[in-house]
Parts: sequence; C-alpha cells; structure tokens
Amino acid sequence: MQAVVWRGDRTVDVEKVEDARLEAPTDALLRLTSTAICGTDLHIYEGRMGEVNGMVIGHEALGVVEEVGSAVVSIGKGDRVVVPTHICCGFCYNCVRGYSAACLTTNPGSAGAAYGYPGMGTYRGAQTEWLRVPFADANCLRLPGEPGDQWEHDFVMLADAFPSGYHATELAQVSKGDSVAVFGAGAIGLLAAYSALHLRGATEVYVVDYIPERLDMAGKLGAVPVDFRGGDPVEQILEHRSRVRKHAGATWRGEEVMGGVDCGIDAIGFQARDRADPSREKPDQVIHDLARLINPNGRLSITGVFLPNDAKPVGELERRGDLAVPWQTLFRKGITVGMGRDHDKRYNTQLRDLIIAGRAKPSEIVTQRLPLREAPDAFRRFDQRTDGYIKVVLDPRE
Ligand SMILES: NC(=O)c1ccc[n+]([C@@H]2O[C@H](COP(=O)([O-])OP(=O)(O)OC[C@H]3O[C@@H](n4cnc5c(N)ncnc54)[C@H](O)[C@@H]3O)[C@@H](O)[C@H]2O)c1
Ligand SMILES: [Zn+2]
Ligand SMILES: [Zn+2]
Repeated sequence: MQAVVWRGDRTVDVEKVEDARLEAPTDALLRLTSTAICGTDLHIYEGRMGEVNGMVIGHEALGVVEEVGSAVVSIGKGDRVVVPTHICCGFCYNCVRGYSAACLTTNPGSAGAAYGYPGMGTYRGAQTEWLRVPFADANCLRLPGEPGDQWEHDFVMLADAFPSGYHATELAQVSKGDSVAVFGAGAIGLLAAYSALHLRGATEVYVVDYIPERLDMAGKLGAVPVDFRGGDPVEQILEHRSRVRKHAGATWRGEEVMGGVDCGIDAIGFQARDRADPSREKPDQVIHDLARLINPNGRLSITGVFLPNDAKPVGELERRGDLAVPWQTLFRKGITVGMGRDHDKRYNTQLRDLIIAGRAKPSEIVTQRLPLREAPDAFRRFDQRTDGYIKVVLDPRE
C-alpha cells in the first residue's frame, strides 16, 4: 500500500510500505476514503518532535471496515467509520472517565497514544490506503451514508479537527453570551470559533492571525477577523469591544474594567510567530497577549501544542521545555487555565449527530482535496500557509 513517509526535515515522500493487517483479535482493518493533514503534522514535517526516518505519519482517518478480528462485536465489514486521533482502549482508568487522550494501555508507561505521532506509541500513521485500528469497538464511530457523499469532508473532520476545536471551547468554558478571542486561524482555531458561535452561544468571537485567506474564512464563519499586521491585536479587540459597549449602552456600574473578553483560546502553540517579525517564532507571544486581553475571572484554553523536547528551540528556556508565562497577571485576574490534548471520543458522537441533523458543517474550512500521491506538494504549500491552503484532505483511492 502507499503511505506518506517522513524522510527528514521538510521532506515527505509517498512510498510503498508493508500492507496494514489485523494484528490482534480486537483490531479492525479500514480501507480509507479520506485522510487529512493537521497543523500537528507540520511540527513533524519540520523535524521538531523527535521523528524517526521512515515513519508513516498522519492521524485523521475516515473509511470503510474491510475486516474485523474475532473479538470485535460492534462493527463489521462494510461499515463506514471514523476513528479518533488518540487511540483508546475504552476500559482503563482514564478511558472510563472520558479522558481518552490519556489512555493508559495503548502506549504502556505513558498516558496517551496516537497514529503516526512521535512519542505516542508504535502505531503507524493514517495518511495511507489501509489502517489497522486497535481496540476497534472503542475507536470506530459508525456513520451513515456512502463514501464520497455530502458528508465525506464533515466526517473526516470528526477524527481530530472538529473535536479539537470543540475541546478548546470546553476548556475555555464558553457559554451563552460570552465574548471569545481565538488566536490562530488554522483548522483548530477556525473550528473553535465555529463551535463558540454556532454551538455554544457566544455573542462575539474574534479570530487573530495574519494570513489573509484564513482571516477571510474566519469572517465567513461569522467571527470578527483581526489582522495583527494592522497593529497590536489586543488593542484592536479592546477598541472594538469598547465600540460595541458604547452602542449597547453601559449596563452595570464599573463595567469598563471588563473591556476585554471572557474567554481566550490559544490555537497555535509553541510555533507562534513573533508579531514584530513574523519570520521568527516567539513561543510566549500568545500567552502574553491573552493574559492582557482576558477579563478578570475569565478562562484561558491552550489547545496549541507545546513540546517537552523541541528539537529546534528558540532559546534556553524553551530548550528546557519551559515558557515565560505572565503568572502575576493571570493570578491577579483570577483566570482559569485549561490545556492539553483533545479527548476526541468524548465529543465525536454528539458532533456527528449535529452534522447529520444539519446543525454543524465543519467541512466549511476544507480548502483542498488532493490525491494521496500529491502529499509532498500539499505539505510544502500548507507548511508555507500559502495558496489558500487551510485544511487539506487527501484521497487515498486516487
Ligand atoms: N490539543 C490537541 O489535541 C490538538 C489537536 C489538533 C491540533 N493541535 C494543535 O493546534 C495547533 C493548531 O493546529 P492547526 O491545524 O490549526 O495549525 P495551523 O498551523 O494551520 O494554524 C496555526 C495558525 O496560527 C497562526 N499564527 C501563528 N502565530 C500567530 C500569532 N502570534 N498570532 C496569531 N496567529 C498566529 C498561523 O498563521 C496559522 O494560521 C497546532 O499546534 C496543533 O499541533 C492540538
Ligand atoms: Zn491533529
Ligand atoms: Zn484506555
């Protein structure tokens, strides 16, 4: 079978690899119909995460069951399914409590496993034609319809991007009437904005970035785009909030102090750009911006990835896996901080049902569908964030 293989910094090839097959009675074998590229794959592409030459990458898979092991009870040949990025067993101490991204049995000695992800187990990646799914009963989410139908791109977003965007709003406890600022207009930031606005009742959602196509997409989804090339995004949002407030008329005495936002979301992580010079990275850029912007008693959600061992750290602090965080501001304001990997299985059933009911359309952010064999070029353009590449879906059947 063909698969996307990491061959060194900024180099992936599509190569023939050993066919996937059942390895345990609890496995399923899927023939994939769509597999997407994630911003996390770009950390891998750039050689930041301890990659191994020859590893198959990718972790977003939608397909049809070809074969199941003798112990699989809930799915069978011909079922259309999506599987979460984070591989879970369904029965360990963390899985039973809903923390599927911290499964204790699928990556022994650690908490959490994933497909094609350095440090998260020995599982091959999902940018391939066939995928072996461990603990199939726990991981396969059954779906209606046929490959290539109107839901194909919505359903592949259920593997990672949609639950991760939703998880970001959960960590930020976004609720009715809240104002929200999302930093980063990649797939995760855009679907966090989408979830905040359309599923959780936020009043205003700002999305900060500097890439025009991504800001346009944020606007199309109903958010207020904020281009940091036009000035400090915190000042821009405060100014906008003050205009909105004046328009609405003051409601409570002293409310001027609450001129920021209730919820802040970092959908970028350790590769955040330095606003003063976007050709450079500044991993603590966003935490400083959000600490200034979030209101007293607000909530901060960090969904962008931070690495324990960045292979190319920008400074001594980052080399140690540390970050300079404005702790005093967060404390003074009493801000609640939530962070970490997305427990995708916790959300994917309800998000699927919203899609089927016509209440959610995460495929709105998909910008390209390309044959799997075009992955090297797709990675290059997506890594440069050019040509309108926001969310790429690869077709393994072409
Ligand atoms: N927690 C999880 O389970 C989980 C799941 C999926 C992805 N992720 C992580 O989420 C992050 C985003 O993923 P993505 O697919 O959207 O990636 P992406 O790289 O496509 O998007 C990141 C965006 O941030 C923008 N950006 C960079 N610096 C900025 C700054 N200082 N201010 C504002 N915008 C800035 C970039 O221009 C880009 O558009 C990645 O770190 C990824 O690894 C986490
Ligand atoms: Zn991902
Ligand atoms: Zn488990």
